[in-house]
Amino acid sequence: MTVGAAEASVTPVSEPAPLGKLDRATIQGILASGRKLLVQGGMGIHASDGLSGKVAAHRGERLVGVGTISAVVKSSEHFRNEIRRARAEAAGGFVGVNLMAAINKAEFETYTRIAVEEKVSFVVQGAGISREIIKWCRAGGIPFAGIVSSGRLAAMYEKWGADFLVAEGAEAGGHIGDVDHPLPTLVDEVLAHTSLPVVAAGGVDAADVARFLEAGAAGVQVASRFLASSDGDAHVNFKAMHLGKTAEDITLITSCVKGMKARAVRNDFTEALAAGQAFPPRSKAWFFGKDGYHGRKKACIECLGEGLCLCRASGYRESFCITDALLAAAIKGDTRNGLFYTGSSITRIPELDARALPTVKQLMDAFEAVLAAADKPLRVVAG
Ligand SMILES: Cc1cc2nc3c(=O)[nH]c(=O)nc-3n(C[C@H](O)[C@H](O)[C@H](O)COP(=O)(O)O)c2cc1C
Repeated sequence: MTVGAAEASVTPVSEPAPLGKLDRATIQGILASGRKLLVQGGMGIHASDGLSGKVAAHRGERLVGVGTISAVVKSSEHFRNEIRRARAEAAGGFVGVNLMAAINKAEFETYTRIAVEEKVSFVVQGAGISREIIKWCRAGGIPFAGIVSSGRLAAMYEKWGADFLVAEGAEAGGHIGDVDHPLPTLVDEVLAHTSLPVVAAGGVDAADVARFLEAGAAGVQVASRFLASSDGDAHVNFKAMHLGKTAEDITLITSCVKGMKARAVRNDFTEALAAGQAFPPRSKAWFFGKDGYHGRKKACIECLGEGLCLCRASGYRESFCITDALLAAAIKGDTRNGLFYTGSSITRIPELDARALPTVKQLMDAFEAVLAAADKPLRVVAG
């Protein structure tokens, strides 16, 4: 086919700006400009889909927004599309990828390869440690970050060449590295063990940001607060589950992932788990993003690495299927049978109506405003 005149004169669609590289030098540059990072924590099984690019679009006077996409239980195509959607929204900002070392090896490698090909801003590793991924990131020119729950691990990651660290305290949502280590003391401990930039994560809301920055953190990571926003692909019931909650509505479960403790909203599912009931894999639905459900051939998709799933290791007689339970929550909005991971800060989310939530932009502006107010000296009113 010859290229006709009309075809030749078509204006090329402009490519979105590439994502910025969030390496150690770039972070130091941001800090030197008087700003800090506000990182949206990656949330697995579609909980954070659609949020990252919007957070990354924020470049304020005091805060630079950083988005994180979660790679778990996505097809390669969905994962790639999610990165490209975030890149289009981020306008040259920072969007990284969260990879859990506990997932099965083949997917771990595939997701890392795609993250490198798509030139994401960084890869951050949680739920276990793989040193291989650090080598892959270095070879691909992608900055690397580690999630840590101790000063010892922080020092190890620095030795291995990480660019920055996320210190995740016991207040965080989902799997918790050390349930006995609250964030304020963890941040002090991690800062004492490393010269890398440290981002403080777990139970942080706008009112807490200033104190962690004053303690020496390069930024804060926030996850649960972003779930209660009008943006994001999660089911409206999933968002509603994070509203109007008190401390009694939150519980710690024993996850099928290596038996780790995890924080979740209390519901029929968590009560049944606590009573010893098992929930082996049974769903054959698998969600690939906005295009809907696709079938999967078997109920257990071996999403976790060999020997890391309590359910599979017990011959499906104990524990539960984490993919089923988290999909039921974020995609189906099943408030009885789903597992709703959450951080301790949800008790401070003021909104009560899931259909009238702030946008990510409004949340970012509110973080910025609270920080600005904390900067101002108190005005003395003459009496
Ligand atoms: C629904 C949910 C899913 C999460 N999934 C992941 C995950 O897949 N990988 C990970 O490293 N952290 C995960 N986290 C932890 C967050 O990234 C974040 O560090 C933590 O929740 C911060 O505390 P906050 O939720 O109180 O702000 C998850 C948290 C929530 C609430």
